[in-house]
Amino acid sequence: MGKPLIAGNWKMHGTAESARKLATQLSQHRSQDAVAEMIVFPPLLHIPAVSDILATSSISIGAQNVSQYSNGAYTGEVSAEMLLDQGCKYVLVGHSERRAVFGESDQTVAEKFRAAQNAGVIPILCVGESFSQRQQDATLEVVAKQISAVIDLVGLDKVCQSVIAYEPVWAIGTGETASPEQAQEVHAAIRTQLGKAGRSTTLLYGGSVNKGNAAELFKQPDINGGLVGGASLEADEFMNIAQLVEA
Ligand code: 13P
Repeated sequence: MGKPLIAGNWKMHGTAESARKLATQLSQHRSQDAVAEMIVFPPLLHIPAVSDILATSSISIGAQNVSQYSNGAYTGEVSAEMLLDQGCKYVLVGHSERRAVFGESDQTVAEKFRAAQNAGVIPILCVGESFSQRQQDATLEVVAKQISAVIDLVGLDKVCQSVIAYEPVWAIGTGETASPEQAQEVHAAIRTQLGKAGRSTTLLYGGSVNKGNAAELFKQPDINGGLVGGASLEADEFMNIAQLVEA
């Protein structure tokens, strides 16, 4: 069984001040004996400030993106080594917004995954189908292909040591959530694809998770927690969702 985990993706929202405020509220509300690991993914520029505030808490920090390259002449990029240096334990790779808006291919995502792991940062590999792919009954095939691209580059064992987040594109930021059954079906298929080594891999669900729908999703046997967008920008709401991972 994967370990329980709750992650908040702040995306490109907020100011330095609002990031500090949210981090402070989370650190105040966070119980030291919480079982589920909590991670926040602030905008890159706010990571040092958030990292300072959360240094004495049990909340981990991650980045929303990483370069596929190591340090060098890559103007505008940020390497996994730099993220590690700033206290990032995790990084999102292959978020659907990166794939759709910034044109990241399965191959690029796989290279980013490898760069993160090589530097000692744990990648959270995001996968998921579009609305039309679901309508065409291609969901399981699309998700399996996204995961296979990474397995082909780094090997199955390395993928099993990461975290995988299933985020159906049609459920992101839309208020529409996959039903617990729909989500479980995909999570079970991912678990099967990973085989024996994947029995303890942490699998997250993401896509319009809120405190009203989280309990049923997190009860599913192959869902170990959530990757939360909008609802992670409000400390109380995010804390309420986090408690449901452990319920
Ligand atoms: P929402 O929770 O806002 O739908 O975003 C989900 C997501 O993309 C998390 O990475």
